Amino acid sequence: MKWKWALVFLALAVGCGDLAGSDNSSNNSSANNQNANNQNANNANNANSGQPNRSQLSGQALYEQHCQVCHGPEGTGAAVWTGSIQGYPDISPLVTDGRGTMAPVNITPDETALIQSYLLSFGEEDLTGLNGVAVYQKKCASCHGIGAAGTELGFPIRFAHPDFLKWVVRNGRPGVVYPGEMPAYTADQISDQQLDEMIEWLHLADRPTTGKGLYDAFCANCHGTDARGGYSQKNLASRAEAWETIREGEGSNPASRTSYMPSWNSMEITDAEVRQIEQYMGSLPD
Ligand code: HEC
Ligand code: HEC
Ligand code: HEC
Repeated sequence: MKWKWALVFLALAVGCGDLAGSDNSSNNSSANNQNANNQNANNANNANSGQPNRSQLSGQALYEQHCQVCHGPEGTGAAVWTGSIQGYPDISPLVTDGRGTMAPVNITPDETALIQSYLLSFGEEDLTGLNGVAVYQKKCASCHGIGAAGTELGFPIRFAHPDFLKWVVRNGRPGVVYPGEMPAYTADQISDQQLDEMIEWLHLADRPTTGKGLYDAFCANCHGTDARGGYSQKNLASRAEAWETIREGEGSNPASRTSYMPSWNSMEITDAEVRQIEQYMGSLPD
């Protein structure tokens, strides 16, 4: 994985000789002085790359050199990461440690600060006034998919339990099955009403009509697509009984992967659907 990123950077470094001349306005002299100390190291690292003097680059030019390929012009998003990073409050942990499928970026703290100011110059993305569906597309789709059917960064969540979804959104969630980490969102960023609208929209998806389809929609994230346990570690294969657990749930701490399960009433998953799910579970070989 790291190899691939390293190649991307090399290609970028070679291809951006013309950036040195672009907008320097946000450079300040103290950043320049500190960067001068790093210059020898940079030169040594980039011996034959023809890279311009990095201390001459503005936040925008540094952004274009190090981030744009994956985050698009002005941080508005690209194929690799469709979400906007304009106004993102603190990029330094991401730059230093990476996250999920983003590898760490090899730049100095001064360069990080310049990129940070550049991104902040757009202001923090304001979601007020947007409906829940638009908020979903801006904030969730890059990991869970435009249609919420999942991507390599996050589960399908079309039929996520409303209370569980709300808890996860407010508290965030480290990936166990998936590589990244889901950030937490406060009510100032995404309101309760927007979450309710989002949930309503998610549940408009075509409802499965078979036992397997229902199992995949409501149970597979936690018990595994093969029903052999998933992150809950509760194997359901060949068990034909789930009635009580579905209606009553388990535990009360959604942070626990192995002791919490939400409950569904007969409006949310009908009696007939529970029977279908049970039949499907029972039909799976032990
Ligand atoms: C090679 C591609 C790549 C490069 C280069 C890259 N990123 Fe990322 N970035 C990603 C990916 C992929 C993610 C999603 C990570 C995950 O799986 O959680 C991400 C996530 C982020 C996020 C979090 C977004 C959110 O809404 O949670 C920020 C902020 C960010 N990157 C900033 C930067 C900055 C600043 C740079 C340049 C210094 C940069 N990235 C360079 C691929 C890249
Ligand atoms: C940076 C990628 C990312 C973004 C953005 C993101 N999530 Fe997640 N989400 C994840 C990861 C990773 C998990 C945990 C996966 C695991 O357990 O391995 C997760 C888990 C969830 C779960 C629990 C799924 C389950 O069945 O265990 C829900 C619900 C959820 N996210 C909803 C949302 C909503 C709603 C948004 C937008 C407000 C959102 N997510 C934004 C990555 C993301
Ligand atoms: C958010 C995760 C989550 C979802 C969604 C979920 N479960 Fe669970 N389930 C669990 C956890 C965790 C346990 C174990 C609880 C414990 O033992 O404390 C469990 C336990 C069970 C048990 C009892 C197993 C035993 O041996 O005691 C059954 C049956 C069950 N789940 C069926 C289902 C079915 C059917 C669905 C879909 C309608 C479903 N679960 C959805 C997490 C989940």
